[in-house]
Amino acid sequence: MIWKLLVLFALFASVTLWACTDKPAAPSVRDAAAVYTQYCVLCHGADGRRGLNGAGDLTASTLPLEQRIQQITHGKGLMTPYAGILTPEEIEAVARYTLTLASQ
Ligand code: HEC
Repeated sequence: MIWKLLVLFALFASVTLWACTDKPAAPSVRDAAAVYTQYCVLCHGADGRRGLNGAGDLTASTLPLEQRIQQITHGKGLMTPYAGILTPEEIEAVARYTLTLASQ
């Protein structure tokens, strides 16, 4: 009798463990352009030139990638900090995306 319980328990435990390791794929890194459209266009504009509330003109920005990542993560002035809103991967991707605006 008790062995049946043990088997049941083992089954349950393995299913639970499996469920934990097989966690639903973390929200996949969104496409950088989509992230930009969703979170940045409001102030920076689709082309990066909008400059709402003193938002830096991204086409003219000379900030290197590392500082863009810092600024997007921690915010600055009226710009929202995106830590907790975007993943570090998304922040880096969208920072790289802003670098491409300069050449347009
Ligand atoms: C609420 C408006 C707002 C939103 C939304 C916003 N920004 Fe900004 N952004 C600003 C402002 C204001 C500045 C200038 C900050 C300062 O220097 O005081 C700025 C500056 C920047 C700079 C630096 C430009 C430079 O050369 O100084 C980068 C890069 C940047 N934003 C990227 C982004 C990205 C990427 C997003 C989306 C994830 C974003 N911003 C969303 C307002 C915004």
